[in-house]
Amino acid sequence: MHDFIKPYSVALDLRTGILKSYKKKVVVKLDDLREFFYDKDAVERTLCRASNPIIYEYYDNFQPDVKGHLNFGVTTINPGKIGSEYYMTRGHYHEEQCASEIYVGLKGEGIVMMQTKEGLSAHSSICRGKVVYIPSFWAHRTINTSKEKLSFLYVYASDAGHDYETIRQKGFAKIVVEKQGLPKIIDNPIFIE
Ligand code: PA5
Ligand code: MN
Repeated sequence: MHDFIKPYSVALDLRTGILKSYKKKVVVKLDDLREFFYDKDAVERTLCRASNPIIYEYYDNFQPDVKGHLNFGVTTINPGKIGSEYYMTRGHYHEEQCASEIYVGLKGEGIVMMQTKEGLSAHSSICRGKVVYIPSFWAHRTINTSKEKLSFLYVYASDAGHDYETIRQKGFAKIVVEKQGLPKIIDNPIFIE
């Protein structure tokens, strides 16, 4: 059977949020996210300063891409902003739209922004000890609103797939920016319905 794998376990340091072993590490830098931050001038200004900061990384324990298995890993998002918008993940719908997901906050503080193709928006805070359930059909993006690294564990069906294209083209209806030193959820000025 091509999808048969043996049981295994990995160590997760619950104090630091560091996953001790993983099959793949993905590093996402600002130039990978050009189309995702709303303030394009701020993106270009930052990149022109010859700085291409790491925005987030994930440490993935993926399984065969077939029904029944679960992928899991840890995402860490650095603290920072592009213009007034906090560092965040790209965000996506699952290609297999029925696929849901669980996040468990490990360190730092942030917001999980979610939306449906029918125009609903919702959000949840995420921090150490908080479990966020992302149901089927909801796109999700995580935003680090704290001054330290935000890290969380994720678990989802390994055949879920990622639809980044819809978010690349339309964006999220709501974004999180800093206003007078505090995180504020506002309408995305460049959202396409
Ligand atoms: O599957 C998830 O939702 C997470 O593992 C994310 O993939 C991870 O946080 C990185 O975000 P994105 O896939 O939107 O780049
Ligand atoms: Mn997901």
